[in-house]
Amino acid sequence: MKKKSGISSFNYNSISSLLKLMIEKPHSNKYENDFSDDKYTSDKSTLKQIAEKKHIYIGTIASNNFKESNFCKVTPKHFNSVTVENELKWGHMSSKNIVGEYDFSTADEIINYCKEHNCRIRGHVLVWGRVPGKSYPIEVDELIQKSNNPKETLKEILKEHIYTVLNHFHGSIDTWDVVNEPFEVFGHKLAPYSFYEILGKEYIKYAFKCAREADPYIKLYLNEQFFYYRDKRAKAFIELLKEMVYEGIPIDGVGLQHHVMFNEQSIEDFKWFIEEIKNLGLEFEITELDIREKIFKKAKKPALAQAESYYKIVKTSVDSGICKGITFWGIDDSYTWYDYIPPFNMKLYKPNNPLLFDEKLNKKPAYYGVLNAMK
Ligand code: G3I
Repeated sequence: MKKKSGISSFNYNSISSLLKLMIEKPHSNKYENDFSDDKYTSDKSTLKQIAEKKHIYIGTIASNNFKESNFCKVTPKHFNSVTVENELKWGHMSSKNIVGEYDFSTADEIINYCKEHNCRIRGHVLVWGRVPGKSYPIEVDELIQKSNNPKETLKEILKEHIYTVLNHFHGSIDTWDVVNEPFEVFGHKLAPYSFYEILGKEYIKYAFKCAREADPYIKLYLNEQFFYYRDKRAKAFIELLKEMVYEGIPIDGVGLQHHVMFNEQSIEDFKWFIEEIKNLGLEFEITELDIREKIFKKAKKPALAQAESYYKIVKTSVDSGICKGITFWGIDDSYTWYDYIPPFNMKLYKPNNPLLFDEKLNKKPAYYGVLNAMK
C-alpha cells in the first residue's frame, strides 16, 4: 500500500490551484459598518449573552496547555462551547501510537473544566486520515499492511476505536465530527488516505454507522474546509451528502471549518451551499472559524476589513436558521495554528492575527463584528 498524506499527494493541479487561491483579490475600502466606532465598542455584552438569545453555540478551542493560556480568562465569560484542538484526535490519545491503547487524561482534564463552566463540548475528531501519527496511530497502517484481509482488519480497527471513544465520552460530548476532511485539499476527489485506499468511500459511511450504533444520542457531523462553496469540489461534497442521506446513513450535520487563509469565500456561494444542506434536512455549524488579518494588508484599515468579513459570515450563518453553532479556532492572536504551519509561519505571511481578541486580550473590531452579526 502506498502511503500518501494530504501534502505529499500534491500534484501539478494542486499546485496550480494553490497559486490561483493565493492571488490576492482587491479589497474595498468601503465598509458597511465601522466596528471601531463608539456606537459598537460601548456595548458591554458578551458573545455568549448574545448567542444564547439566538439559541446558538458560540465556541472556542482548548489546547493541551489550556490552563496556562488565555483560555481560562476568556472562555467562561464569552463562550458556551469548546472544541478540543488536538487532544481528542486518535493519534494524540493513543499511547505510543499503539492501536487499542488510550490515554484520555488530557482530554478528560479539559472536559472536566468545560463541564464546571457550563460549556458543551464538540468532539473533534473520530476518523481523520490526513496526518498519520497525529490524526491516527501509525500502527493502523502497519496492521493493515500485515493483514491477509485488509478490509476486514481496517473495519475492525475503526469500529473498535469509535466504540471505545464514544463509550468513554458518553454523556460528556453531544456532537462529534465523525469524519474530518474527507476530500483532497484541491481537486474534487476523496483524499487518498489509507482508509480510502482500502475501503473506498465506504470508510466514511461505515464510520457514521458505527458512531450511531455506539451512541444513539449524539449528533454526527461531517467536517470539511472549503475555499470555494460552489466549485466542483463543493458540489462533489454535496453529492456525497445526498448519497449518504438517500442511503439512510446516520448523519445530522455538516461542519464548515471556514478558515480564511488567502482570500474570503464568496457569500453568495456560501448561501447556495447552505441551501443545499437545508434541502437535505441537515444542519450545520461553523466549526473552525478564523480570518487572517494579513489578507487585508492592502486595505486602509485591515482590522476593519477583517471585522466586516467576520460580520458577513456570522450573519449569513445565523440568518440561515439551520446554523447550530459557531466556533473560533483560537481565543486571541497570541496563539494560532497558523503561526506553526507552512506557509503561514513564514515571515512573509506573519503576523496572521486571525482572531477576535488581540494578544493583550483587547477586543478587536472583529469582536464587535461578530457580536453585531448575531443580534
Ligand atoms: O507547539 C509546538 C511548538 O512548540 C513547536 O515548536 C512546533 C514545531 O513544529 O510545533 C508546535 O505544535 C504544532 C501545533 O500544531 C501548534 O498549534 C504541531 O507541530 C502541529 O502538529 C499542530 O497541528 C495541529 C493540526 O491541526 C494537525 O493536527 C494544530 O494544532 C491544530 O490547530 C490543527 O487543527 C486543524 C483541525 O484539526 C482540522 N482542520 C484544520 C485545522 C487547522 O490546521
